[in-house]
Amino acid sequence: MGKVISVVNQKGGVGKTTTAVNFAACLGVMEKKVLLIDMDPQGNATSMSSIQGESFNTIYDLMANPEINAVYPTGLPFLKIIPCNEELTGAEVELLQMDEREFVLKKTLQKYKEKFDYIIIDSPPSLNILTVNNMVASDGIIIPIQCEYFALEGLSRILETTKNIKSLNPDIELYGIVLTMYDKRVKLTYEVENDVREHFGDTVFKTVIPRNVKLSESPSFGMPIVLYDISSIGAQKYLELAQEFLKKMK
Ligand SMILES: Nc1ncnc2c1ncn2[C@@H]1O[C@H](COP(=O)(O)OP(=O)(O)OP(=O)(O)O)[C@@H](O)[C@H]1O
Ligand SMILES: [Mg+2]
Repeated sequence: MGKVISVVNQKGGVGKTTTAVNFAACLGVMEKKVLLIDMDPQGNATSMSSIQGESFNTIYDLMANPEINAVYPTGLPFLKIIPCNEELTGAEVELLQMDEREFVLKKTLQKYKEKFDYIIIDSPPSLNILTVNNMVASDGIIIPIQCEYFALEGLSRILETTKNIKSLNPDIELYGIVLTMYDKRVKLTYEVENDVREHFGDTVFKTVIPRNVKLSESPSFGMPIVLYDISSIGAQKYLELAQEFLKKMK
């Protein structure tokens, strides 16, 4: 059975989508069968994955009707995607009115767990019902954080939510915290890094993702970094992160 992993942080712009897309792509490069799911109505992961045109089925459609096909190919043979668009905003309201509203995604994904080694879910910048669905459906979470003021406070909030989720998903694990947009020229980076490593020890990935312009350019070309520029430091580090993760999971 494949592992389901949500990339979560309620704070906006910390690198969730960049991490979800590129981590998924790097696992795909390592010939793991990977399904990326865009669960953020902003649809950023979808636009990074070269799906063209208007008419595609989304995770929103799939949750409403599990029989349809919503899995699409990407530029990488081992990476598939279930996209979304702003319609998913409607799902927030609809989910709130449903029975077992926290379990809708989990039930939807059940059959895909047999077909994929990893299912990676990108989350919105909120701890709303969509994120709760993501966490209930997940074996583990990865939390990207930016080394800045209040990073630790933000982290405690997610960890508190994760604890609460245990009443619905007792086995959920914290697979790791990853430092993103790491800039060693900034003093605060070291201070936050030291704090986070002191508090969370081995839960923090040794690999850090540096600020790299190629990572911010690749979405506008609809490509993960390994297709956009494999030789960039951003690509190298996401590959390293995927490797570190696979070692940890052994
Ligand atoms: N390591 C990096 N180096 C340079 N730019 C980055 C890096 N990681 C992310 N970015 C850029 O920072 C911005 C925010 O990143 P991203 O969209 O991944 O964050 P997010 O947490 O998914 O945001 P949101 O909360 O809005 O969904 C994007 O423009 C992205 O291209
Ligand atoms: Mg995002």
